[in-house]
Amino acid sequence: DTVDWDPEDAGKGEYDHYMLKEINNQPTSLANTIEGRIKDGDVAFESLPPGSFDDIDTVQFVACGTSYHAAMYGAQLVREAGLRTEVLRASEYESTSGPVDENTLVIAVTQSGETADTLDAVRKATECGARSLAVTNVVGSTAAREADDAIYIRAGPEVGVAATKTYSSQAVTLALLTQRIAADVPEGTPADDRGEMLEALEDLPKHVETVLETSRAEALARDVFGSKSYFFIGHGLGHSVALEGALKFKEITYEHAEGFAAGELKHGPLALVTEETPVFAVSTGSDSDSKTKTNAIEAQSRGAPIVAVGPDDQSLVDVADDHLSVPDTHPVWAGLLANVQLQLLSYYAARQLDRPIDKPRNLAKSVTVE
Ligand code: G6P
Repeated sequence: DTVDWDPEDAGKGEYDHYMLKEINNQPTSLANTIEGRIKDGDVAFESLPPGSFDDIDTVQFVACGTSYHAAMYGAQLVREAGLRTEVLRASEYESTSGPVDENTLVIAVTQSGETADTLDAVRKATECGARSLAVTNVVGSTAAREADDAIYIRAGPEVGVAATKTYSSQAVTLALLTQRIAADVPEGTPADDRGEMLEALEDLPKHVETVLETSRAEALARDVFGSKSYFFIGHGLGHSVALEGALKFKEITYEHAEGFAAGELKHGPLALVTEETPVFAVSTGSDSDSKTKTNAIEAQSRGAPIVAVGPDDQSLVDVADDHLSVPDTHPVWAGLLANVQLQLLSYYAARQLDRPIDKPRNLAKSVTVE
């Protein structure tokens, strides 16, 4: 269930930074993530045949950092599939977890498989009888060895401290896994348009390629340069993408950036909004975008420049001051394309500021202390 890597690929190649290389590697890494996992219009994981989850009634996700945002993405899809779910920051596991028993599946989302907080949360869940599953990039990692089962995201080695391609591969793996679980669990309802969604997934690598070839993120990063603060908003799947966009931006630019649920803007953060706080509004082409639009307009009327990040065919684009466009696709995948635009935005903003992009100050690729 894994793929082999060519050691020749380990260098930066033609790129100035590993981060840019890894962003550009996503058409390939995503193709690897998907390979062999869609069969006859259905989801197939070699190590988890149909029936693997038939005794599960609750799915808990535990993760940190970027992986937490991928877990949020996955949890929303699990919720939509009719299952009880929680997504928990691993470092807060004890104080936030609901009841856990042998019908609980705890999914550790961890690129490295070595994050101490995540390993600790899984150990606590399994002590209470939960069944564990590691969703990781590293074969033989502690998470993969300790969990009852492991699924590999197959993103290939990621060197840049700021996670990029592993996020995309995690989100796709979790979306596929959700369909697998929903088919097994008695109260689960696999998506009505599952066929369409899986078909659109096969086009995702090609759509990422289009974003990479046509992105205006570099020019836009120049336009918004020198702002006081950078806000990212979204609703539903777009909310987790907004949080990830803000995290990436602060990690590598050292500028102040925050991500919010679009509807929360008016409950406090709006006090900070001025013409010096550009707002990146993430949309996915779903009905939930109207909330993002309404709240973006509120920010705009206080002077904030609005950048729509998402498909062309949406009314947010008409009111926005600028647009980072993504190809039309199923709403489940559009957020991941918007995220690629935001990865590029952060990269080019950090580059203008001459930051040490691959090794931001004070951060480590893998944090093995609690
Ligand atoms: C560190 C990294 C982040 C990463 C987080 C979780 O903080 O700097 O980029 O998202 O750990 O890592 P994991 O390996 O568990 O996905």
